[in-house]
Amino acid sequence: MKLLIVNGSPRVGSSTEILARKFEEGFTSVLTDTEVVNVRLNDLSIIPCQACGIDPTPMPCVYKDDLYPALQYLMQADMVLIASPVYFDTVSAQTKLFIDRSNCFRPPRFRNNTVEFDDHGILHSKGAYILVGGAREKYDAAERVIGGFFIWAGIEKIGRVIYGHDDWRLGGVTFNSESLRQSHDLGVSSANSML
Ligand SMILES: Cc1cc2nc3c(=O)[nH]c(=O)nc-3n(C[C@H](O)[C@H](O)[C@H](O)COP(=O)(O)O)c2cc1C
Repeated sequence: MKLLIVNGSPRVGSSTEILARKFEEGFTSVLTDTEVVNVRLNDLSIIPCQACGIDPTPMPCVYKDDLYPALQYLMQADMVLIASPVYFDTVSAQTKLFIDRSNCFRPPRFRNNTVEFDDHGILHSKGAYILVGGAREKYDAAERVIGGFFIWAGIEKIGRVIYGHDDWRLGGVTFNSESLRQSHDLGVSSANSML
């Protein structure tokens, strides 16, 4: 099994990162031979999608920047976990860069002045997500963004964990055993969905 973890938090030791690790622990406790690639988007230099309209064959993108290996791995991964803080009601900018660059999993084909989206590159994988934000829990926009990405790319949603809190310590989720358990359990159920 191949598991891709996409961490969209800029903070080292963040609750987002801790919950993603818990998911990984749960997943690999069931599927012990899993190859895990953990991508901290904030460490990468990422070109925002340029809507270039160029057929990206070979997939997944014409831009060979730091993100390219992660997109290549996404094409092979059986499971992807998106872990993002909520910024201004949606996913972090880092996470959005990643999502936009997956647009060419359905590359545009131009014929007689019309465009069609070819789904030969569509994924047949599974996905889950973790969102971390304030206690107000206005996460519907973030969920729509990730949900739209999953549908577009061909990723079946297995589940999600929401950690809405008013504990402003870095990595504050360490003190919230219920959220840690939920992430672990989501990892377990995600792995079980593969069996
Ligand atoms: C730029 C910015 C915008 C934010 N916007 C929101 C928001 O719209 N809704 C919310 O619930 N929390 C918002 N927050 C709070 C973060 O979601 C919160 O600090 C969260 O714990 C970050 O995740 P982390 O602890 O894993 O880094 C924002 C924080 C920042 C830095």
